[in-house]
Amino acid sequence: MSVGLIVSMEQTLAIIKPDAVAARRIGVIIARIEATELEVKGVRLIRLKKCEAEGFYAVHREKPFFDSLTTFMSSGPIIVLALEAPDAISRWRRLMGATDPAEADPGTLRREYGTSIDRNATHGSDAEDTAASELSYFFSAIELRQ
Ligand code: CMP
Repeated sequence: MSVGLIVSMEQTLAIIKPDAVAARRIGVIIARIEATELEVKGVRLIRLKKCEAEGFYAVHREKPFFDSLTTFMSSGPIIVLALEAPDAISRWRRLMGATDPAEADPGTLRREYGTSIDRNATHGSDAEDTAASELSYFFSAIELRQ
């Protein structure tokens, strides 16, 4: 009798941030995503208003970097993506690397394309509950059932 490991299908929110969009890294980052098991279930280019960036990052409202973070995130267009795979949340976080590009492993997206902890090229949800709320910030249930 074989005992298989059951890994559940997950969705997560990914963002290609204004620095990476401005640096024309959209294509290469999506190519890196598509080279893995992560499947693109939704994708859109948008520009957040400052108040919309503040709503998205509301959990960081008390942090000293909240104003600079939300000013930056509303400074230019971003790409929002819904990604799906078994273990999608940690899979996408591994591909991104550590929050600070200087501490991210070689080959990770933030190491390759990020330039500072603020301008770190990509964002990803950090847990199942935040993935659900972050996905619903940008995508409808109808869009996510593809
Ligand atoms: P992100 O994954 O988008 O989540 C919050 C962002 O805040 C983070 O990436 C960083 O770009 C930014 N940030 C700025 N300073 C810090 C800090 N000291 N610790 C964590 N995140 C920071």
